[in-house]
Amino acid sequence: MMITPESKSVIPFRPRDAKRVGKGCYYLDLIVWLNSEFIELGDEVGFNYGCWVNGFGGLTVGDRTMFGPYSMVHTANHETDPSKTLLEQGHIKQPVSIGKDVWIAMGVMILPGVTIGDGVIVGAGSVVTKDLPPYTLAVGNPCKVIKQRK
Ligand SMILES: CC(C)(COP(=O)(O)OP(=O)(O)OC[C@H]1O[C@@H](n2cnc3c(N)ncnc32)[C@H](O)[C@@H]1OP(=O)(O)O)[C@@H](O)C(=O)NCCC(=O)NCCS
Repeated sequence: MMITPESKSVIPFRPRDAKRVGKGCYYLDLIVWLNSEFIELGDEVGFNYGCWVNGFGGLTVGDRTMFGPYSMVHTANHETDPSKTLLEQGHIKQPVSIGKDVWIAMGVMILPGVTIGDGVIVGAGSVVTKDLPPYTLAVGNPCKVIKQRK
């Protein structure tokens, strides 16, 4: 693992930081961490520097999953009724589920409603718009599977 307890700016999650926090979860300061009452983390989940996470629509993350620097997860969209102003629109909650042993590389954007299976690798800079099956490697915008891992 590249981040060790000796690394600077590693901050352990506290139990009250989310609906569920497994043991050994950490982030690197800085993180944006919104609507955490709807976020459930497995054990040893890690967020590298500069992640942006909004749990509004519900977010679950499996054991040992790692988020690279500047990755983002959103779990809701604004409504798009053209007869209303943007501020009048409500929100559409769309939960995100990310499995265990997933490596989200740096600068990845995960959009609302997506399920990412166990053991997936998401390449740097990808925009995940659709579900990714377990043990695949996926890259790009929109993010597509390019390899099976087993
Ligand atoms: C996803 C990744 C692991 C793929 O590695 P790999 O299995 O060795 O894949 P390859 O380098 O053989 O690339 C396969 C193809 O995907 C493309 N590709 C690889 N990563 C890509 C990415 N992030 N976005 C778009 N295309 C990508 C390659 O250009 C190549 O395309 P081609 O077949 O047309 O030549 C690597 O490219 C990556 O993104 N690493 C992330 C590094 C990082 O974020 N580190 C910080 C860790 S916290």
